[in-house]
Amino acid sequence: MRALKMAGLLVLSVIILAACGGGGGDTIKVGILAPLSGPVPTFGVMTRDGSLLAIEEWNAKGGVLGKKLAAVVEDSQCTPDPAVNAANKLIDNDKVKYIMGEVCSKASIPVSEIANAKKVVQISSTSTNPDVTVGKDGKVKDFVFRACFIDPFQGTVGAKFALDTQKAKTAFILLDQANDYVKWLAEYFEKAFVAGGGKIVGKETYTAKDTDFNAILAKVAAAKPEVVYLPDYYNVVNLVTKQAKEKGIKAVFMGGDGWDSSDLDLKAADGGFFTNHYSPADTRPEVQNFVKAFGAKYKDDKGQPKVPDALAALAYDATNMLLQAIKEAGADDTAKVKDAMAKINFNGVSGKITLDGNHNPVKSATILAVKDGKVQFNSVVNP
Ligand code: PHE
Repeated sequence: MRALKMAGLLVLSVIILAACGGGGGDTIKVGILAPLSGPVPTFGVMTRDGSLLAIEEWNAKGGVLGKKLAAVVEDSQCTPDPAVNAANKLIDNDKVKYIMGEVCSKASIPVSEIANAKKVVQISSTSTNPDVTVGKDGKVKDFVFRACFIDPFQGTVGAKFALDTQKAKTAFILLDQANDYVKWLAEYFEKAFVAGGGKIVGKETYTAKDTDFNAILAKVAAAKPEVVYLPDYYNVVNLVTKQAKEKGIKAVFMGGDGWDSSDLDLKAADGGFFTNHYSPADTRPEVQNFVKAFGAKYKDDKGQPKVPDALAALAYDATNMLLQAIKEAGADDTAKVKDAMAKINFNGVSGKITLDGNHNPVKSATILAVKDGKVQFNSVVNP
């Protein structure tokens, strides 16, 4: 609650800052779409804070193209309608030409249609579903980009880890079919797991509203899989893994980047693994400098430096990519900025980024383990 209140205050102050910025020719506005409320608020807070840190650093160096940057933060709730309304507000009322976000694929996909149609440059920090940057017609959306790898890669990395490192031959998949991220990541995992010689011994669906998973967990218990793949967000992972432990299910739970949260229930998810974009324990100077700067600016409830998660790191990278593209374009003109972005060569916290023809970075994944009350680094997998 306190975090939410503080989140609200910050949003307000950022908007005021934007308003005082004059809004005219001497500022460039950057819209930030972050799910500050709704099912996954830690995603929103971390994303907003990573993005604002990047903007603050650029402003301290004089801004971009001689203009100061003004952030306009909107709460997009990880949900299609609120995200679309927030994007329209940013574009039509605030006259924003650059959008960082959303986090969740199911929100970023509808926003991308609007951004592309209105020639607003959008970069999602963390939306991993392929449809964010590529339309139903199979054509890349000229104005839409991302800073993260995509789910066909993430699902394959998860499947290979299950087969090769966990030595699993059987897996059970649990999924929410109405969530673009969950549905497709489950599918990519299944494909790679089966192609590698594994067997799917069961598959059950639930909805985002469900809180009691006993019926489907009874089926998991009966099928006795070695691995349960649960590629959902931390709020669902907390409920399912807790109920699985209560049922005495011993299978190894695995998932994707959606597990990354300071609110992940480490006791319930203990013994699990997930694929992610970065680890704050990485010794590369880019990572350690970022961890230091983030912790100096943001404190947790106990006044200790906050440790940035992958959402913060990627929001920081995505924002820096966008500002580098504006600088390299040499003009506050989205037609030029999108071209500069398409050929960017960026060295970020989450790695070196160049974009392929579908505006997707090709970069490594990190595997993290939930063990003994901590999220621990396991390994890095290159594409
Ligand atoms: N990849 C998720 C999606 O596309 C979002 C996410 C990324 C969540 C990283 C947590 C961490 O919906």
